[in-house]
Amino acid sequence: MILEATVDNIDYCTSLLQQDEIIGIPTETVYGLAGNALKESSVRKIFQVKGRPLMDPLIVHCNHLEAVELIAKLNDPARKLAKTFWPGPLTMVVKKNKNVPDIVTAGLNSVAVRVPQHPVFRSVLERIDFPLAAPSANPFGYVSPTLAEHVQHTLGSQIKAILDGGPCKIGIESTIIDLRDHQMPTILRYGPINSSQISDCLGFSVKTAISEKNNDTAAQSAPGQLTRHYSPRTSVDLLEHGCTQNKNPIVSHCDKTIALVCNQKPKWYTGQSNIYWLSETGNPDEIAHNLFNLIQKLDRQQFEKICIEQVSPETIGSAINDRLRRAAAKKS
Ligand code: TXA
Ligand code: MG
Repeated sequence: MILEATVDNIDYCTSLLQQDEIIGIPTETVYGLAGNALKESSVRKIFQVKGRPLMDPLIVHCNHLEAVELIAKLNDPARKLAKTFWPGPLTMVVKKNKNVPDIVTAGLNSVAVRVPQHPVFRSVLERIDFPLAAPSANPFGYVSPTLAEHVQHTLGSQIKAILDGGPCKIGIESTIIDLRDHQMPTILRYGPINSSQISDCLGFSVKTAISEKNNDTAAQSAPGQLTRHYSPRTSVDLLEHGCTQNKNPIVSHCDKTIALVCNQKPKWYTGQSNIYWLSETGNPDEIAHNLFNLIQKLDRQQFEKICIEQVSPETIGSAINDRLRRAAAKKS
């Protein structure tokens, strides 16, 4: 059931969490499926409802840095990043404390932590005295939800409540950085905060462990970073950035069974029903904001294929292209 984020409904959802139930909840990135991170029985429900393998660890969400320090050990670079980017879309992998159940971290001695920014998520955290484990609220491998209605459509029958906080402002998942080795922070997942912002904050450059190829052996350097992910049921093909600007041969061959998703409104557009764009002007933040909603909308139609134009890799662009590559990866 979708619940408007009124005080009464936030109180009700808080009471569900206190009874070890799990709920759908908005964050500034995507909707999460949240439960008490310190209770094995709650966390187990999250894995069951998502159909997620137990080897894929969860992110733990806290309302401030002090709360994070109760469950994890932060080193200097981690504290520096926390002070700059929290609350916000940055997840840090750090050493865990013993009070975090093994099921949360898939038995690893590290834990992924983040302080989210969304006011509805924060008001829930303020009412409870435990952190919330929350993966994205989608069935395992499917596109992440950016509206309460997306959660309702896929998981609604299995959970008691979804708090509606409106469309997620950012629209793609947080950046994940591994800080276990303080000399060599490593980006595990591209996201809204890019590597140059992180390097600028730390004063030295950081590594990335993200495969640009559709190759699962390389992609598995981080748990859960499967090549095929964020995938709609409809097959996805990628187009080069910029190629939809002119009505070139690729575009002309898109018949009505194929949805063509451009970065921006094409100049040659004359009302064709199978042509879509993610931003009027090609603004990368707008593209990120609209991406998962449009993919889910098109996936509920009868297209044989969705062709999506990649974006320019600046700012949030590399994170968008990473999601597109995974959405387009073929089933193995
Ligand atoms: O924006 C986000 O991060 C959203 C919102 C709800 O906060 N959450 C999210 O969670 O995207 P999820 O579970 O869909 O993706 C978390 C990723 C997984 O790929 C998981 O493998 C990785 O984080 N992860 C979690 N704990 C880890 C750890 N200890 N070491 C390495 N990777 C970890
Ligand atoms: Mg996810």
